[in-house]
Amino acid sequence: MRFDIFTIFPGFFESPLRESMIKRAIEAGLLAVALHDIRAYTTDKHHTTDDYPYGGGGGMVVKPEPVFTAVESVLAIGHQGSGSGERGAGSEQSAIPIVLLTPQGRVFNQQVAVELAQHDRVVLICGRYEGFDERIREHLATDEISIGDYVLTGGELAALVILDAVIRLKPGVLGDPTGAIDDSHASGLLEYPHYTRPPEFRGWRVPEVLLSGNHAQIERWRREQALRRTWLRRPDLLNRAELTDTDRVFLRQLAQERAVK
Ligand code: 6GU
Repeated sequence: MRFDIFTIFPGFFESPLRESMIKRAIEAGLLAVALHDIRAYTTDKHHTTDDYPYGGGGGMVVKPEPVFTAVESVLAIGHQGSGSGERGAGSEQSAIPIVLLTPQGRVFNQQVAVELAQHDRVVLICGRYEGFDERIREHLATDEISIGDYVLTGGELAALVILDAVIRLKPGVLGDPTGAIDDSHASGLLEYPHYTRPPEFRGWRVPEVLLSGNHAQIERWRREQALRRTWLRRPDLLNRAELTDTDRVFLRQLAQERAVK
């Protein structure tokens, strides 16, 4: 899978791409990340990437020309006239998501990560300043994503968050082939608690069931822990989770226990 990241600060990505899972995915040829410096696509003497907003007010706005030029030359798509509806329609290129990273986008979650992981190539455009010239949003981007309800100084950290969440879903990227399946959120539930050796640490024992070797019982315990944890911490997730009849009985029991206390 290939990510093309457009940014005014390519240096931001240097060390994150050189560590751990992302580094290994690149080395294994499972991931390619191309960083494109938007400033390199400016044509004026001062390499201007931002300008004052029409209508006044504070802050600066990312100019359209260098962003359009950068993305179009990298994707080898020319100017196609009247806008997003026409660009690359019916061609291979139209399948490449061109994602604008802004706090106004749809909120990123595991489902969006799975969706992006289905593409062989994804374009991420990092914003800065007060925002993008609206024509970038209307006529270049095909998608707009935020990583949560808070404001960052730019889209670079968001690009790294998305890159990480997406690439770990690709077969072969995680050491453990089932790694991405049991994750918090993958099933719609939070994960059950994990324990490793020693069996007793400072008097705190690992739950006996995990030492029992009884796999059916362990599975049941883990499922109940995941349900309990989700119910306590993120009850909103239960509405969308895939639940069995047994799960529902257990949740009803939890609710009753609570009511009695
Ligand atoms: Cl994608 N960009 C910025 N600047 N702030 C954010 C964000 C993105 N997602 C959440 N906050």
